[in-house]
This record gives sequence, structure tokens and C-alpha cells, in this order.
Amino acid sequence: MNNKLKLGINIDHVATIRNARGGLHPDPIKAALIAQSAGADNITAHLREDRRHISDIDIKKLVKKLKIPLNLEMSPTNEMLKIAINTKVKRVCLVPEKRKELTTEGGLNVLKNKKRISYIIKKLKNYNIKVSLFVDPCIKQITACKELKVFSVELHTGEFCENKRNKKKEFLQIKKCAEFTKKNNLECHAGHGLKYDDVKEIAKINEISELNIGHFIIGEAVFFGLKNSIIKMKKIIENSRKRNFYLKSA
Ligand code: PXP
Repeated sequence: MNNKLKLGINIDHVATIRNARGGLHPDPIKAALIAQSAGADNITAHLREDRRHISDIDIKKLVKKLKIPLNLEMSPTNEMLKIAINTKVKRVCLVPEKRKELTTEGGLNVLKNKKRISYIIKKLKNYNIKVSLFVDPCIKQITACKELKVFSVELHTGEFCENKRNKKKEFLQIKKCAEFTKKNNLECHAGHGLKYDDVKEIAKINEISELNIGHFIIGEAVFFGLKNSIIKMKKIIENSRKRNFYLKSA
């Protein structure tokens, strides 16, 4: 089996940098369009209840401007349900959310919150929105996802990425869960905390058809783009010393 492994780019942290100054730069929509032109298969954005990075307007603009699918990450609340329906997104990934967490800590507890999650899924499906559930690599959780008849499951890879001592055990657990997901006719996605070295391993699991990566890629973009940004600024400074428009017309 050698099926394509798709790559979704999470642009949340472009918005984190923008929001640090409260302005418009850097624009996550521009980042999404660059990702699209670089070959990304989808764009992922998490509209958090506290709006710490991506905003409601960002979501509207992304829906309007992207040619590739937008994968809206959201918690299973009525507020988010309304936004997903009103903005006409085609894909939603339900994730757990705690106000004080720095990032999504662990997957959804589908077993414990089946009634609420099932309600949200039914409503989303009425609008032909494909639903994915972000869960820990745990067979019982995936079984619960299957019972809720979702389109896909996204396995939380955070434990694998962070675990330095027992990486093999975490890897085998993800592999087992990916096989189980596929066997149950659900698409299997994976993401969280993935870096180059982690991807080298996770990409070997053929049952996984999509990876969603954000923080590391945005971090790497700083290093890849820093030199060019400084060179461009230096050029502007040098050229501006040669031609001083404001002083000439004063
Ligand atoms: N997938 C899901 C469901 C997530 O919640 C996140 C983080 O927002 C990611 C993937 C991307 O994680 P990271 O930013 O660590 O690459």
C-alpha cells in the first residue's frame, strides 16, 4: 500500500504573533495562501473560545479565499456549532478545550461526552460538514468514534513527540490505533507536536492519510525566512538613503 499522505498546515501561530501587537501583521490569511501555493492539502485553524489566535473574521476570509479545504478545529459547543454552520465550512475537527491550557492537551473524551458530541455531529452532518474527532491513540475512544459515524479520526501524536524514553511504545500504539481506525472504515489523520524527526516515523504508517502540523512549521519558517527578511530590510534602508521623496517635496 502506498497511498498519498496529505499535509494540512495549521496557521494558528501566525495569528498568535499578529495578536501580540494587536495589528494586522503577520496576516494568517497570507500564510494560508502561501501554504496553499507550496502544496498544502488543507489549512487547519482552531477558533478558540477565548479567540487567543484565530478570529471569527479570519475564518470567514479563509472560507472565501482558499481553494483547498479549510479544516475548522473547534470545541463541541453551541457557539462554535453556529459559527461552523454560518461560515459554511466543509470540514470540522472537534477538539477538547480548556481555557488555561497552552495548547490542546490530550484528545476528546468521546466515551464520557458522547451525548454532547453526538448532538453536535448530527447538527453538522445536516449541513454536509465532514466531521473528524481528535482523540488519544486509544482503541476504546476510536470505537466510540465509530459508533458516532464520523468521517475520520485524528490521533493525538503529542505523547509520541514528547516522550523521549519510550518512543517505540508510543509509536506502536499509534500504529495499532491507525490500523484499527482504517479497519473500521474511518479515515485516519494524525497531528500535534510533530517535527521533522517525528514525521519520518509517523509517515511510515500507511493507514494514516493526513497529518496536521502547525507550531513547528511556523517556527521553522522564522529561520528559513529570517535571512531574506533582513536582506530585504537592508536593501530598503540603502535605497531609501539614495532617494528621499519626503525631503525632496518639502
Ligand atoms: N491537530 C489538532 C487537532 C490540533 O489541535 C493541533 C494544534 O492546534 C494540531 C493538529 C497541530 O499541532 P502543532 O501545532 O503542535 O503542530
